[in-house]
Amino acid sequence: MARPVILLLSGPNLNLLGDREPEIYGTESLMDHVGTARERAQDKGFDLEHIQSNHEGDLIDAIHAARKRVASIVINAGALTHYSWSLHDALSAYDGPVVELHLSDPKKREPWRHLSVIEPVAISSVVGKGGAGYLEAIDIAINACSATDG
Ligand code: DQA
Repeated sequence: MARPVILLLSGPNLNLLGDREPEIYGTESLMDHVGTARERAQDKGFDLEHIQSNHEGDLIDAIHAARKRVASIVINAGALTHYSWSLHDALSAYDGPVVELHLSDPKKREPWRHLSVIEPVAISSVVGKGGAGYLEAIDIAINACSATDG
């Protein structure tokens, strides 16, 4: 039987992690974080798909393609978090649990980062924990799947 899938989505500029503002986002690359998340998911019997895009529409297409197929979505939407109501609507139309993830804590930063349009459609938001947040977000996603299973 195919293993259930967690979809990890990474928004704009996250491809630059490790190099981009390391004092805020750390020195690990996005691929380091994806590796950590994938290992955790696999240990718990799930597969992990990862998509990074700098384009809002690509992320929306990926969410549409996840409907009725993917067990849960973990999303770090980057700055789209703060204004992409299209992303909000796509996630509202998705049928599984959504976990919001950020390396930093946006609510402790500039005022324009304080609004998250992802938060209202997420079961949980993991913020300000750096790379460790990937493990926590995967665990929350998997627990939510198990809770709704059968
Ligand atoms: C971020 C926080 C956002 O405000 C920012 O635009 C990012 C990264 C984070 O992981 O801390 O690109 O999502």
